[in-house]
Amino acid sequence: MRRVITYGTFDLLHYGHINLLQRAKALGDYLVVGLSTDEFNWNEKQKKCYFSFEKRKRLLEAVRYVDLVIPEQEWEQKRSDVHEYHIDTFVMGDDWQGKFDYLSEEGCDVVYLPRTPEISTTQIKKDLKS
Ligand code: CTP
Repeated sequence: MRRVITYGTFDLLHYGHINLLQRAKALGDYLVVGLSTDEFNWNEKQKKCYFSFEKRKRLLEAVRYVDLVIPEQEWEQKRSDVHEYHIDTFVMGDDWQGKFDYLSEEGCDVVYLPRTPEISTTQIKKDLKS
């Protein structure tokens, strides 16, 4: 069983997220998603979520590619998560290119997948406002 992990906010779940989750799952057999809590988003990324953590979690759990959703509460937890969840591959979109290469020290592969063009939560919010 190959285990894959990815992290993110996944607010206003959209097809760019689904494409990422589908390709992440295809790299293994079991996909864990570290879902940023509302506090982590606000304190570390200055992002206010439209959907609360519990609602974003329910949406992700309904996606066929996702096997387990865990909270992402701090940047440093990634090193221990890799061991706790027996992770073989760490995956992020390529907006994070190079940022998590250090996780290979923990014995997992680090993969960056190309983002789906022209869609983001920020863009959706902007478009709905204008
Ligand atoms: N992602 C992607 N393609 C997109 C949007 C997101 O592959 N068009 C990926 C990101 O690279 C990340 C994951 O989906 O690995 C979660 O991204 P997140 O930041 O939650 O989504 P965004 O739509 O980028 O949100 P925001 O605009 O708030 O940054």
